[in-house]
Amino acid sequence: MKSERRRRSWLALVLGGWIVVTAPIALSVTLTESSAGAEASDQEKAREASQNPRAEYWREVRHGAQGYSAVTGPEANVLIQDGGETWQELRNGPASTIGAWLMAGVVLALGLLQIFKGTWKLDHRTGRTIKRWSAFDRFIHWGLTVSFLLLALTGLGLLFGRYVLMPLVGKEAFGAVAAVSKPVHDYASPFFIAFLLLTVVAWMKYNFFTSYDLEWFKKVGGYLTREHVPAGFNNAGEKVWYWFLSVAGLVVVASGLFLLTPNFEWSRSTMQLSSLFHIASAIGLICFSLVHMYLATIGNEGTLEAMVGGEVDERWAELHHDVWYDEIMASRGTKAEPDAGSARVS
Ligand code: HEM
Repeated sequence: MKSERRRRSWLALVLGGWIVVTAPIALSVTLTESSAGAEASDQEKAREASQNPRAEYWREVRHGAQGYSAVTGPEANVLIQDGGETWQELRNGPASTIGAWLMAGVVLALGLLQIFKGTWKLDHRTGRTIKRWSAFDRFIHWGLTVSFLLLALTGLGLLFGRYVLMPLVGKEAFGAVAAVSKPVHDYASPFFIAFLLLTVVAWMKYNFFTSYDLEWFKKVGGYLTREHVPAGFNNAGEKVWYWFLSVAGLVVVASGLFLLTPNFEWSRSTMQLSSLFHIASAIGLICFSLVHMYLATIGNEGTLEAMVGGEVDERWAELHHDVWYDEIMASRGTKAEPDAGSARVS
C-alpha cells in the first residue's frame, strides 16, 4: 500500500516536472516562431513594398476590402478571387483529363466487346411483333436524344476544343466553332430539360428493381457469356441507365441553370462549383450514353426496331425480356411457339 502511494507520488513528481520544464520551452518556441513569422512577414512586406509599391493595395483588393470598386453587388469588392485559380486548375486539369480518359476507356471497352463477341444476333425471327414503345414514348426518346447529342457535342467542343480542335483547324476556325457552340448549347438546354423530365416521369414505372435483377448483375447481362438472363420490360442494366440518367440528369440541369443565369448574382464560388458538377455529371452521362447507344444499335440485333417502329419481334422479346414476354403472352391468353412462322436469319 505504502509502496503504491510512493510510486504514485513519484509519477506525479515526474509528470509535474516534465510540464514545468517543457511548457516554458514550448511557449518560448511558439512565441519566437510567431514573432519570427511576424518579423519575416514584416521584412517580406518591406521587400515587397520596395519591389512593388502597390503590393499593399493589391493585397487589400485580393481580400475584398471596401472602396476599391465603384461597382455594387455581391462580391463587387473582390477584384481578384483566389478560388478562380483553383477552379481553372481543376477544370483544365483533373476534370478534363479524367473525363477524357473515362470516355476513351468506354470506347475502348465497347470496341473490344464488339471485336471479341460481335453483335448479339437473334437465332431466328418469328415474323410476329409485339408493341413495345408508344408514339409518345418514341417522341420523347428521340427529342431527348437530339437535344442531348447537341449539348454533348457542343459541350465537349467548349471543354476540349482548345486542345483537340484548335491544333487541327486553326485559331480562326476554332473561334467560329466556339462562337456557334455556345448559343447552340444554351438554346438546346430547355429542350433537354423538358424531354428529360417527361422521360423520367413517364418511364419510372418500368424501372423499379426486382429480385431477378440480381442475377442479371451477377451475369453482367450475359454479355460476356451470351447467356440470356431473366428480365422484365426493362432489364437491370436499362434500369441502372434510367436511374443514372435521372440523377446525373438533374445534377447537369441544376448546375447548368446556375451557369446559364449569372444575372441572378450567384457568388463566384457557386458558379465555380456548378461548373465542376456540370462537367462531372455531363461526362458521366456521355460515358453511359455511349454504352446505351452501342447496345441499342450494333450491340444487339433487333433492339433499335423497338424505338424506331415501336414494335419488336417476338423472338427478341422472348430472348431479352422473358418475364415481360410471358406477361404479354399470358394477357393474350396464348403462349406462342417461338418457332411458329419464324423467318430464320442465317
Ligand atoms: C443514337 C442514339 C440512341 C439510340 C440509337 C437509342 C436507342 C434506344 C432504344 C432502341 C431503346 C429501347 C430499348 C428497349 O426497348 O429495350 C432506348 C431506350 C432508352 N433510351 Fe435510347 N437511344 C439513343 C440515345 C439515347 C440518349 C442520348 C438517351 C439519354 C440521354 C437515351 C435514353 C434512353 C432511355 C432512358 C431508355 C429506356 C431504358 C432503356 O431501354 O435503356 N437514349 N434507346
